[in-house]
Amino acid sequence: MDLPWAEPYRIKTIEPIRRSTRAEREAWIKEAQYNLFKLRSEQVFIDLLTDSGTGAMSSAQWAEIMLGDESYAGASSFFKLKSSIERILGFPHFLPTHQGRAAENVLFSALLGVGDAGKGKVVPGNSHFDTTKGHIEFRHAKALDCTIDEAFDTEIEHPFKGNIDLAKLQAVFDKYPREAIPVCMLTITCNSSGGQPVSMANIREVSALCKKYKIPLFFDSARFAENAYFIKTREAGFADKTIKEIVKEMFTYADGATMSSKKDGIVNIGGFIAFRDEELFRQCCTFNIMFEGYITYGGMAGRDMGALSVGLDEATEFDYLEARVGQVGYLGQLLTKYGIAVQKPYGGHAIFVDAKKFLPKLPKEQFIAQTLGLELYKEGGIRGVEIGTLLADRDPETRQERYPALELLRLAIPRRTYTNSHMEYIAAALANVKERADSITKGYTINWEAPIMRHFTVELKPAE
Ligand code: F0G
Repeated sequence: MDLPWAEPYRIKTIEPIRRSTRAEREAWIKEAQYNLFKLRSEQVFIDLLTDSGTGAMSSAQWAEIMLGDESYAGASSFFKLKSSIERILGFPHFLPTHQGRAAENVLFSALLGVGDAGKGKVVPGNSHFDTTKGHIEFRHAKALDCTIDEAFDTEIEHPFKGNIDLAKLQAVFDKYPREAIPVCMLTITCNSSGGQPVSMANIREVSALCKKYKIPLFFDSARFAENAYFIKTREAGFADKTIKEIVKEMFTYADGATMSSKKDGIVNIGGFIAFRDEELFRQCCTFNIMFEGYITYGGMAGRDMGALSVGLDEATEFDYLEARVGQVGYLGQLLTKYGIAVQKPYGGHAIFVDAKKFLPKLPKEQFIAQTLGLELYKEGGIRGVEIGTLLADRDPETRQERYPALELLRLAIPRRTYTNSHMEYIAAALANVKERADSITKGYTINWEAPIMRHFTVELKPAE
């Protein structure tokens, strides 16, 4: 028989985690005002809040931590990272930043300006991540979503739900003058549509359209390696190419990239901006020095740059990706087996549970996905994250709730951190909640909320 995939590493260090009792968890979550962000990590058994900065580094990466050069200027760790970025992604210029959103801050300061300089400008793309959208809107510009319609139906098995709809992008280019569109952003994989990939064909077509209109194309490349894995395994013509060859080709179509290294860089903190054009790089240097740090460290310790230079190499190996994406898929298969509706196809970094289908009796005013997240925590000490009404927040003008089409509970899987027994535990816990789903008829209401980005700090109480 064909041998199954197995992790291309063994475990050298372990970090104990503790199983708690249901009574303990009920007390803790009440104290946390029913907000999963407010729990202490010791109160969580399996933490699926995010795959960002939560992965496990390899022995080679830890060795780099000891070799880190902490010189203010010209550190050898910077040059190690520069050479990895040039070799793996193909960009001649880069700036380190402390994480992904910092890269966005620097890039958009150059492309959109500061203050309200972005007024009248637009940035099209597939679904922008929240912080990307935040940095665009903060400068009074508009973030335009041109994702294909299939992305918003959890049941449709489209292989590349992160794709841009070219007709929608063309319509943006026709509507706005060239000066109003400083950049087009393509997020690979697309987190906001469920960790869904963009095909090489779509990347090529988007790039050609951008070139025709002389609009630079940037990738938000937080999960670029997982995207390349999906191209290799799903797109005709790529099965025999290595991940590194696919990655190299993907980036030839981009003028630059922002990166949250906390994902496919497999480090705990860090980010960067990569550029083809020297002129834009120079403009960004000034903002990097102001917001992040001098251009050869920009918010990162030398040791972290060294670990990242190795992480980029390890993340672009097929065996690693097969086990990584395979583990996420394994959780998806288990949940499907238990009759739980999840976003299909399974994402690269997370499984998204369809909470409306899970708790059909709950009124939308009582935060359906949040309620499911709280039930899962109480059941098994597992922490996911709500991607629903709390996150969607109120309309900034009318202050009315913006009910999104989907109420999702995201279970993000940290890289190289949990085993398949953990996946089995998670699936069993969710199956137990499903057994008593009919009795869950009440959700939560808001006690206190912040004026923006409320989901991080919101205080809830059980609905009357
Ligand atoms: N772009 C994407 C696609 C992301 O998913 C994230 C972060 C960022 C940019 C921002 O990067 O956190 O390093 O500043 N996503 C995390 C998540 C927070 O949980 O999905 P950052």
